[in-house]
Amino acid sequence: MGASGSGKTSMRSLIFSNNPASSTARLGATIDVEQNHVRFLGDLILNLWDCGGQDAFMDSYLTTQRSTIFQHVGVMIYVFDAETREMNKDLEYYRDCLDSLTQYSPEAAVFLLVHKMDLVQEPKTTMFEKKREEVQKASGDVIITVFGTSIYDESLYRAWSSIVHTLIPNAAVLNKHLNIVAAACSATEVILFERTTFLVIATSTSSSSLPASASIASSPSSISSPTYTSSPPSPLDPHQMHPKRYERTSELIKAFKWSCSRVREEFHSLELDMYDFTAVLDEMTRNTYVMVVVHDPTIETAAIRLNIRMARKKFE
Ligand code: GTP
Repeated sequence: MGASGSGKTSMRSLIFSNNPASSTARLGATIDVEQNHVRFLGDLILNLWDCGGQDAFMDSYLTTQRSTIFQHVGVMIYVFDAETREMNKDLEYYRDCLDSLTQYSPEAAVFLLVHKMDLVQEPKTTMFEKKREEVQKASGDVIITVFGTSIYDESLYRAWSSIVHTLIPNAAVLNKHLNIVAAACSATEVILFERTTFLVIATSTSSSSLPASASIASSPSSISSPTYTSSPPSPLDPHQMHPKRYERTSELIKAFKWSCSRVREEFHSLELDMYDFTAVLDEMTRNTYVMVVVHDPTIETAAIRLNIRMARKKFE
């Protein structure tokens, strides 16, 4: 949910329909509610409602359609345009939506996206903190997670991986299985991606390093420049590696898949043989891809692929 023009359909188009950011300028306003169904991991289906943000629609969601819109919600994602001139009106609608949500789906998680961060001229961190305080105040006692996002960098993948992660019931089990795969491959890290969206579902490292962490989400680092700025990481400790590596991978592979589709080729797998590490990206199940990162040059990629093949049954 969120005001008209805040960028809801654009993010849906990027993440769930594999379209490039440049194509979003052609999108028209959403009329009423558009629904998407994305199959995640076997039986898990993500039912995504994109609610058109024009006032007439918002008023209708909050009155006649109230019980339909706010019933059985797993997660409400409210999008604020970072550069909006109507923040007070946005906050008013947000508070009304939150009231309806607490009435009909009290268990639902609430994510707030301060979107179009690329357009912000003033120091992004200061501006984000200001907005975060504002929305926190408007949320009262409700626990919220706030992200700064833009369709032009990986921040969108960080936010959405985190959102989707909260909806996966067996995330801890997946983590455990990925740790076993990592040990079998002598891998530094193993990451599981959803096939269509390339969002991170789980990683072999502990949950504290997942993009789902609320502390990462609301820290200024989540909205800083997407370029790599921290000191060179140690290659063997996943916790020391590039903090945005997951969402960068999602973003880059999505772009690569899009390039493949333009030349009518289908993307199946990828092998990267770099100076100090090897990465294998391969299909894990019908709905997932797995990426295995190894820093030991004596490990053959064929062996990694064999391990992936043998692990498949466990993940189906
Ligand atoms: P309704 O359907 O009316 O509710 O609007 P919406 O929230 O779905 O907005 P939409 O996705 O149609 O985006 C409106 C405009 O914002 C488009 O021209 C997008 O290209 C642009 N836009 C979306 N995300 C971003 C972003 O991160 N940065 C910038 N600069 N522009 C964006």
